[in-house]
Amino acid sequence: MLKTIPVPYCYTSRRIWYPHTLNLAHSQRSSLLTLPLRDEYAGIAPYYDAVTARFLFATRRRIAAFCQERGWRRVLDIGCGTGEQMLFFQDAGIRAFGVDSSPAMLAVARRRLGPSAPLARASFPFPFSDASFDAALLSLVAHETDTGSETLLREALRLAPHALILEWRKPERNRDYLLQPLVHCIERLAGQRHYRRFRTFAAQGWLRGLVHRADAHLIHDESRVLGVLTLAAVSKEPGEVNEGLLTLSATGQRHLNLNVGNTRIDRMERF
Ligand SMILES: C[S@@+](CC[C@H](N)C(=O)[O-])C[C@H]1O[C@@H](n2cnc3c(N)ncnc32)[C@H](O)[C@@H]1O
Repeated sequence: MLKTIPVPYCYTSRRIWYPHTLNLAHSQRSSLLTLPLRDEYAGIAPYYDAVTARFLFATRRRIAAFCQERGWRRVLDIGCGTGEQMLFFQDAGIRAFGVDSSPAMLAVARRRLGPSAPLARASFPFPFSDASFDAALLSLVAHETDTGSETLLREALRLAPHALILEWRKPERNRDYLLQPLVHCIERLAGQRHYRRFRTFAAQGWLRGLVHRADAHLIHDESRVLGVLTLAAVSKEPGEVNEGLLTLSATGQRHLNLNVGNTRIDRMERF
């Protein structure tokens, strides 16, 4: 059983980043947060980027570009870890605020981003007012959080009208199944509790199960890194479908071209 202790908000964040634009709720600053006593990332934090940076480089750049294309200028990176994604946001001119429950991961992030970086130690519920951001990012967090993935997604959608989710993708094609032992191996190496949460995430229907449980709407979904990961945009409101084109080719390719609200879905898949 994970022990939790109440921690006053003022203890979790010594630096408040442009508070006037973030519109922090004063009542929430004094609210009590529950942060895990044991830091599950204490061991891996110093090596996390060495293991993941190469594998995630193009996807991190894509996440920043995705926000930039849609004019999302203020992004909350929930479970920001070592702050790697925030560097990509910085390069794209996006103001990102990072929150994470792990002191070890945040220590690495502070070293990389500097002592005045917009980072805070926090866990659910996050100390910001409703709609403080344009988008909230859950990058490789939903499958492993002990907060409950749908609780975290609902919270993301309280803080921003859109959430971006990077997650393990549900295997659908033969090639996906070939890569599944690798995915399970990575999650198993992260520890037994971690692996148990991942298996629950999968058993509950992966990304689509999560979106359904959170009463949210999937407005964009693309496969990343050989189809092992999925990058999705989720919104509180269903997008309006303006135009759509589904092309099925004789060679077994399915090309879906769809505009939903301001979001363009352009996917080509073999089936
Ligand atoms: C696998 S790491 C991903 C880090 C980073 N987002 C990335 O893309 O590399 C998951 C991170 O989520 C954090 N995390 C999990 N649950 C959280 C919660 N409820 N609140 C804040 N951070 C959380 C963990 O501490 C960890 O740093």
